[in-house]
Amino acid sequence: TRTHRIAVIAGDGIGQEVVPEGVRALEAAAEAYGFELRTTEFDYASADYYLKHGTMLPDGWFEQLSAYDAIFFGAVGWPEVVPDHVSLWGSLIQFRRHFDQYVNLRPVKLLEGMKSPLAGRSPGDVDFYVVRENTEGEYSSIGGKMFEGTDRETVIQETVMTRTGVDRVLTYAFELAQRRPRRHLTSATKSNGISITMPYWDERVEEMGRRYPEVDVDKFHIDILAANFVLHPDWFDVVVGSNLFGDILSDLGPACTGTIGIAPSANINPERRFPSLFEPVHGSAPDIAGRGIANPVGQIWSAALMLEHLGEREAAAGIQRAFEKVLAGSPREVLTPDLGGDGSTQSLGKAVADGILAGASPQA
Ligand code: NAD
Ligand code: IPM
Ligand code: MN
Repeated sequence: TRTHRIAVIAGDGIGQEVVPEGVRALEAAAEAYGFELRTTEFDYASADYYLKHGTMLPDGWFEQLSAYDAIFFGAVGWPEVVPDHVSLWGSLIQFRRHFDQYVNLRPVKLLEGMKSPLAGRSPGDVDFYVVRENTEGEYSSIGGKMFEGTDRETVIQETVMTRTGVDRVLTYAFELAQRRPRRHLTSATKSNGISITMPYWDERVEEMGRRYPEVDVDKFHIDILAANFVLHPDWFDVVVGSNLFGDILSDLGPACTGTIGIAPSANINPERRFPSLFEPVHGSAPDIAGRGIANPVGQIWSAALMLEHLGEREAAAGIQRAFEKVLAGSPREVLTPDLGGDGSTQSLGKAVADGILAGASPQA
């Protein structure tokens, strides 16, 4: 049988609560679709680990995680204990960079049964992908602080765009757009105000567009693009953006579909030289952590993206069908509060896992 070796890192806060539900879905899928799953849990990339060891990751993490087919990640960040930039730059951002996961793929889809905060929108009106550059751009460590403690105190942080870095994420986005029925690509820019890096981004989009004549390309400055996500979500098919713009759009998009609690993401190294990492878009949600009410669907959907990446197409589709059905037609006591229910992380996770098993059986 096919075997997939998965490193599981739950991290902080609701990561600890939603990851077990993601694993439950994966195990159901393994049983239903006949593959073997070998999971290994790691306690690093968490505030607890930091308190014990003074670092977010152990020496040797790179070699250790490199041995897995994929990484299934929850969320990291507990600002009461570790400043966010320390915990994130000490873990997740290192994973993305060292494993060269330069594509962050984030589907945005208004599902049946979900209540969009946008008036009059129904499923079909919102169905696109955010393709986020994930290893360079505005997330750079180049810069510094000067004249500290004086009234001339100055901080500088440079944006870095390399030809290779921009072209490779654009290539991914164009290829994706070309496979979609509408073949439409929207580029997020800000070349009116950010006068060096963003015109460069536009130039690369234009150049790349010539190689994909079938893809219909448009661009918006990020300010009006954010507005259009709300006003005209039906305009979008594949939206490609720099690291920061992609980050912002990938919370805004899912918010327009009812809750960020369902949003998944795939941090992909398309060449498969390194493991890719699958995690929900949301963070550790300290405001609701420990109460068992976090929505596990973002984690479960991320599990589906992971299985697809690992070549388990049917299983991935099975997970997707299962959570879509549960979201579309479950009683309040199954659904989490962000979905208007009074159920729990576990009630929702269990309903999806049951659905995965039922959906794969011949009598279903
Ligand atoms: P967040 O995504 O953790 O939470 C934002 C809001 O959304 C909160 O009100 C939260 O309760 C709600 N929410 C998030 N996920 C939910 C879910 N599954 N079900 C129901 N409600 C949910 O963002 P934040 O508050 O800005 O960040 C909290 C911490 O998480 C910070 O330390 C931040 O740096 C970190 N963070 C980590 C990641 C990651 O690991 N990929 C992503 C974003 C934020
Ligand atoms: C995300 C998160 C991270 C990011 C943070 C926690 C560093 O918001 O994955 O979207 O900005 O990439
Ligand atoms: Mn984010």
